[in-house]
Amino acid sequence: MKPRVYITRKLPEAIVKKISSICDMRMWNEAETPVPREVLEKEIQEADGLLCLLTEAIDDSIMNKAKHLKIIANMAVGYNNIDLDSATKRGIMVTNTPGVLTETTADLTFALLMATARRLVESSDYLRNGEWQTWSPMQLTGQDIYGATLGIVGLGRIGEALVKRAKGFDMNVLYYNRSRKPEKEKDLGIEFSSLESLLASSDFVCVMTPYTKETHHLIGAEQLGLMKESAVLINTARGGIVDEEALYRALIDKQIWGAGLDVFEQEPVCVDHPLIKLPNVVTLPHIGSASIATRTKMAELAVMNLLQGVTNSTPENLLNKLEVK
Ligand code: NAP
Ligand code: GLV
Repeated sequence: MKPRVYITRKLPEAIVKKISSICDMRMWNEAETPVPREVLEKEIQEADGLLCLLTEAIDDSIMNKAKHLKIIANMAVGYNNIDLDSATKRGIMVTNTPGVLTETTADLTFALLMATARRLVESSDYLRNGEWQTWSPMQLTGQDIYGATLGIVGLGRIGEALVKRAKGFDMNVLYYNRSRKPEKEKDLGIEFSSLESLLASSDFVCVMTPYTKETHHLIGAEQLGLMKESAVLINTARGGIVDEEALYRALIDKQIWGAGLDVFEQEPVCVDHPLIKLPNVVTLPHIGSASIATRTKMAELAVMNLLQGVTNSTPENLLNKLEVK
């Protein structure tokens, strides 16, 4: 009997073919709408493997319905949508897709930093709306990137890839991380800093940690209050790491100069969200890893993990160290 797997979103044809050659596969056949919870609750009951996206909450209650589930393969590096402890307790393997999206996400993070600093969206709208009457000395002026200080909160794979981009702009780079990385300091020419001092000294702060209990609202009113009035906050990690209400207040009160956000506490974010309406905020719909090549590699990696899990070999990107039965 072929292992039974459920895929929570329509995947490219070639990938679907590969899965179907090995598994009895069922898939939510829509590209733009997430699988309804009740469908997932039904499908998970008989599945040996699940390939899901960050849009699905794979919590204890849904795992409770699964009778045979061996593996949950997330098509994302972040896995805060999955209750890892509950999966481990039940002997279910969990995997993610690290590495293949690092450079693409670092590109987007730096692009967002530049777009926010130089007011690209606002300037483009200004032109399109017919407001451009003349060249004027202080018109649409922003913040310099070249030679500025970048503070990276969370120096993992993407944080480190950001350093390479920043060094090309002669930026001075500070980092704060759960664990200090002295060898990286030497190799990359960066300096470790407490979170407080990084916030106070940086012109740009990029948040690059995973979203966990410890990082929930890591950047709140107190932290924003430490930042320079000319500083820009960039979040391409997860929305919940930044307290959005506090960020809104800090932007309105001109405690900080601007923000670039690819992620939100609630996604998809509502168009009426107050942050979206601010001219000094550049907002994106969670597109950090969205290049054709990278999304294809993520899907392929997630499928490889899924197939390894359902065929009783240890998946490449196993997050919970379980013995494969
Ligand atoms: P990673 O290599 O695991 O790096 C995460 C870093 O954060 C590690 O250096 C880790 O420290 C540090 N960290 C963890 N908890 C911390 C805490 N409480 N305080 C300070 N530092 C902490 O992950 P990655 O591949 O760079 O990805 C990072 C995150 O980016 C993902 O989890 C995901 O949520 C997000 N992401 C978003 C997009 C997007 O589309 N916008 C795309 C990809 C990723 P240690 O070295 O001590 O472990
Ligand atoms: C995207 O947000 C990811 O975690 O891969």
